[in-house]
Amino acid sequence: MRKMKAAEARPLMQDLCAIVMAAGQGTRMRSDLVKVLHPLNGLPMVCHVLEVCRRLGAKRTLVVVGHQAERVREALRGMSVEFVLQSEQRGTAHAVLQAESALQGFDGDVLVISGDVPLLGDALVERLVATHVKTRADATLVTARLANPSGYGRVLRDRRGAFRAIVEEVEATPAERRVTEINVGIYCFRAPCLFAALHQVKPSPVKKELYLPELLSILRKRAGKAGGRIATVLADDPQEVLGINTRAELAEAYAVLRGRAVAHLMAEGVTCVDPASVHVSSLASVGRDSTLYPNVQLEGRTRIGEGCTIHAGCRIRDSHLGNRVTVLDGCVILDSEIADECTIGPYAHLRPGSRLKRKAKVGNFVEVKKSVIGEGSKVPHLTYVGDARLGDRVNVGAGTITCNYDGFAKHQTIIEDEAFIGSNASLVAPVKVGRGAIVAAGSTITQEVPPGALAFGRAQQVNKEGRAAELRRTRGKK
Ligand code: UD1
Ligand code: CA
Repeated sequence: MRKMKAAEARPLMQDLCAIVMAAGQGTRMRSDLVKVLHPLNGLPMVCHVLEVCRRLGAKRTLVVVGHQAERVREALRGMSVEFVLQSEQRGTAHAVLQAESALQGFDGDVLVISGDVPLLGDALVERLVATHVKTRADATLVTARLANPSGYGRVLRDRRGAFRAIVEEVEATPAERRVTEINVGIYCFRAPCLFAALHQVKPSPVKKELYLPELLSILRKRAGKAGGRIATVLADDPQEVLGINTRAELAEAYAVLRGRAVAHLMAEGVTCVDPASVHVSSLASVGRDSTLYPNVQLEGRTRIGEGCTIHAGCRIRDSHLGNRVTVLDGCVILDSEIADECTIGPYAHLRPGSRLKRKAKVGNFVEVKKSVIGEGSKVPHLTYVGDARLGDRVNVGAGTITCNYDGFAKHQTIIEDEAFIGSNASLVAPVKVGRGAIVAAGSTITQEVPPGALAFGRAQQVNKEGRAAELRRTRGKK
């Protein structure tokens, strides 16, 4: 490879600002939610595009908001982007024009991307910028060849193959509609040309919108007969440039992102027994030598360590699992922290705020909420643990319930180290069971159990000798 001078090393991105168009409603989604916020594999759709801009190292990223602007701002809070408002959605050229004052005085290149092209990869955008810089074009756009180009703007070329114009489908003649090269909605402009020409865009004949592609015709005419100042980059993979306008396309994009995420996990050393049925958010991670059985869903920022086994039909959201954790079939785990070597399930529900320390076990049909289960402690069957703190090596018998709610407020249950709770106990909170204490099966515990004590909280049993036979006789007569 040619050795580059320092100044040349990453010359492209230093002078690049990005504008992401996210102001449109997305009518074709038929949704109360603005299109660019529709969730897509763990992230709002527009965030997939913003991630590309971030990785690219754009100097500034401006997001054009309009429809449900507040919701979009809120969803992107914490990201290093700036917002510009397009209060009326008069088309994509009008959207970009709103960034003019924010970019006043900037004379580098401007990358313009639609917020609804979430499958876009870094390499294609890098190639766009590189081509733009190398050809010294006024504008460069990405195009693609699609077997079915319907819905997209078509790229028209002259006889020599040079870029001529883009025509939107609604405005195209039947012959133009047969063109299979489409506009992807991703462009790079020299900033001064961009804003000068944007003011010249006229409303389109049919929809009366200000179309950004129209700008390319304006620039081309200005650039002279040769039309040499408009460059194009052809996307190799048409899938990557899928624009999301409908729910069907949203599902199509999801399938691609899901496939990519699963392929990535397998490449990193995760076994997916049935890759086609595993769902992994773009933000989730799984350590090597972990195994995912069929129909596992890992949502949000879930992090799973190494050597874990997640059996069939589990949904895990925004949770952290350590190493060598086993989750048996049918569990739901939300916003929880699971330390190394824990065992969970089958059919356990860990609700938000559950924390299992090392080697803890939460078994069949157990629900845990906002509670800590100490190291090596076991809650094996049919139990509800809510607002509780269990120490280490505690054993909770089947059917035990923490009665944490009195109809007015939630109360805490504390079970200290090595306590043993017999089956079917009701622990009426607020209550505490001291270290090493034993609670008899079937007890209703309403008072503190001191450390080391044996607590009985149940009615005395009465045995009446011989009464069983008598009862059968008298009842049998009738
Ligand atoms: C656009 C292109 C089309 C291209 C296609 C690729 C135009 C006129 N057409 O069509 O050539 O083939 O993308 O996917 O640009 N937006 C605003 N403000 C507006 C209008 C739109 O911010 O006033 C935003 C939308 O939120 C969206 C993006 O711009 O993120 C594209 O708008 P959309 O209506 O989806 O354009 P297409 O009809 O798909
Ligand atoms: Ca679109």
